[in-house]
Amino acid sequence: MCGIVGILGNHEAAPILVDGLRRLEYRGYDSAGIATVQDGKLERRRAVGKLVNLSDLLVHEPIKGKAGIGHTRWATHGAPNVQNAHPHKAGDVAVVHNGIIENFRDLREELSAQGAVFETETDTETVVKLCENYLNQGLDPITAARQTVARLEGAYALCFLFDGQDDLLVAARKGSPLAIGHGDGEMFVGSDALALAPMTNKVTYLEEGDFAVITRAGAEITDASGARANREMREISHGAINADKGIYKHYMAKEIAEQPSVLAEAVKHYAAPDGKSIRLPGTELDFISIDKITMVACGTAYLACNVAKYWFEQIARLPVELDIASEFRYREPPLSHNSFAFFVSQSGETADTLAALRYCSENVDKTVAIVNVPESSISREADVSLPILAGVEIGVASTKAFTCQLTVLAALAIQAARQRGNIDAAEEAELVAALHGLPGVLNLALEQEEAIKATCAQLVHSRDALFLGRGAMFPLALEGALKLKEISYIHAEGYASGELKHGPIALVDEHMPVVVMAPRDDLFDKTVSNMQEVMARGGKIILVTDAQGAKEAGDGAWQTIVMPTVHPMLAPILYAVPAQLLAYHTAVYKGTDVDQPRNLAKSVTVE
Ligand code: F6R
Repeated sequence: MCGIVGILGNHEAAPILVDGLRRLEYRGYDSAGIATVQDGKLERRRAVGKLVNLSDLLVHEPIKGKAGIGHTRWATHGAPNVQNAHPHKAGDVAVVHNGIIENFRDLREELSAQGAVFETETDTETVVKLCENYLNQGLDPITAARQTVARLEGAYALCFLFDGQDDLLVAARKGSPLAIGHGDGEMFVGSDALALAPMTNKVTYLEEGDFAVITRAGAEITDASGARANREMREISHGAINADKGIYKHYMAKEIAEQPSVLAEAVKHYAAPDGKSIRLPGTELDFISIDKITMVACGTAYLACNVAKYWFEQIARLPVELDIASEFRYREPPLSHNSFAFFVSQSGETADTLAALRYCSENVDKTVAIVNVPESSISREADVSLPILAGVEIGVASTKAFTCQLTVLAALAIQAARQRGNIDAAEEAELVAALHGLPGVLNLALEQEEAIKATCAQLVHSRDALFLGRGAMFPLALEGALKLKEISYIHAEGYASGELKHGPIALVDEHMPVVVMAPRDDLFDKTVSNMQEVMARGGKIILVTDAQGAKEAGDGAWQTIVMPTVHPMLAPILYAVPAQLLAYHTAVYKGTDVDQPRNLAKSVTVE
């Protein structure tokens, strides 16, 4: 959700800034811009839409200079036009910002009363105008930036660049992530380590309230109280910052295909060396003395929690309270010290999930983060952080992170069940063996890609689609619908199979494809009855099932997609693959921008 980058380098900054922004484009692509200090003067270029438009502009109107800042925008305040694009500039200062300045109206009024003229609709413009005001009062750039930041309320990652200063960047962080990169006589700033990967893998993460004065000689960081802060410099592994598309046309295709290997890593991480039990490396969770788990997340991560609720309740007999983070944080739910609270997030930066975590800390026995980015805010603020080990996920639609989240949650449910005496060692070993078998069955599922693609060639002509599932396959129906609508823009809804006749069946006619997610399990017959109700009304069934299910119920289905047989508990992990491929190939047929669907951004750092 907006990406920022800053450079104090020894080479021309513009191409490096654009390269950094390319790696941050997943955070927003409404506009992009850069500013540099060229011959002592601030210069900037901005363009609406994808980064490629900025690159084109720079070919015709290049800017020079070895110090610069850049921004890729996901619009919050103000339409996506050039005027509102970052960097914003006023007098001798330019700023890039990720987040929302909540008191911008008050600041705007105050500055307007003093004669400031605002040219944009953005909250960020108040930051540059305020800083300009302090500079005009005679403050030096660092003090002006410090005074400016002190006046801001809300969430921000900020980077300031000043006219006449080609060895100075000022950065500040509150509520939005920001990293400082250390090069050889060069320094960098970025929203994440990924942006900095081509320049350096030596990274210092700023903490909440930090303020950093950066020169080519290094960074001086002070904390929220103004005291000097020593923040650790880490070396980020290549795997964590590898953003190559490889042989694939889209990141999403690559990330779908990577699932067997990343899941294998996750299973290895959470299984004991004997391969028969679950072991949480470096930490322990005592599920015996708690009486509830609260799970909070957004979007696809929330749907992973929905699946996990079935697991924890069925095999560990542990009640799960579940909510979307944006609702949870405002409904003031009562909490219990005899409970754990799980926060599931790919990015680890989702603003609502982070706020929900803060609401729970001190009021539950333990807050547990289940995240893909180990250095993220959610990971750092939780009592326990469990990595999902999916590797970098760039496609805006989450795929491998979802199946890895499910894998970690399944491991936790198995451990809880064993600790609470609901399963014995043999049953635990059987479930752990099934987890170990997941990469193999996922590979078999991926072999169905051509068949799924053929179905998509038909599905692409639909205006709407329904997804049905029962039990833990119900959240999968929701996930299938979410994936399809977000990347193909086909309207899709997911329902519990049994709920269909309570209203949505009115939508069914011969134009309505209905995807039924139904492994041949204990609930299969009931789901098939619901499927028959759809067929009786002319609905076109796309049945996703296993060989036995296809044999028993495939007749009359418009299309049947056959999955390998898998342990019933783990079917939601396997069936995520056809859900993802259905969405992916339909979107490709439709010609949408698969990796960067309209209006969306990854890492939603505003509420
Ligand atoms: C959908 C998708 C989103 C995210 C949601 C939460 O494909 O990716 O719904 O799941 O924005 O993001 P994280 O997991 O980063 O908290």
